[in-house]
Amino acid sequence: MSTDAIVVLKEDHKNVKRLFKEFQAAEDGPAEAKAEIVKQILAELTVHTYLENEVMYPEVRRLVPDLEEDILESYEEHHVADVLCMELFTMTPDDERFDAKVNVLIESVTHHIDEEEHEWFPKVRTALGRNQLQELGARMQQLRPDAPTKPVEPKALHKALEAMRA
Ligand SMILES: [Fe+2]
Ligand SMILES: [Fe+2]
Repeated sequence: MSTDAIVVLKEDHKNVKRLFKEFQAAEDGPAEAKAEIVKQILAELTVHTYLENEVMYPEVRRLVPDLEEDILESYEEHHVADVLCMELFTMTPDDERFDAKVNVLIESVTHHIDEEEHEWFPKVRTALGRNQLQELGARMQQLRPDAPTKPVEPKALHKALEAMRA
């Protein structure tokens, strides 16, 4: 199987988007089914974001300085998704804000995926050689089994919350 970094990440995107569709189809159905789909969404997103944050983003930033702005914006979009995932992790479908929050997560991640796939992945493919992309993808696949699967409080938010609790 190819370990091309862009192929690997697009495969993750496909899985996440399939789960988004499943949630939308299940929205008016039983709570347990919705909770299960959201659990899977949070796990997929947590792993995927981790691999991009640990390998893809820092390496692209280093190797393709022209994409600095896109990378910084993407980090911020990850941060927004992290906060939503962390909140959803503590919620159940009977919460009146549950569906709304899942739908905001879906909208914002779908936008983020579109930007990655259409705006800067093609530039990365042009700038990096085939071998470099294979090597980056292999590193992500190596890291995957050890990636966190549950949302964790983003560091900055953790600090702010600690300060409030003190
Ligand atoms: Fe991303
Ligand atoms: Fe991505």
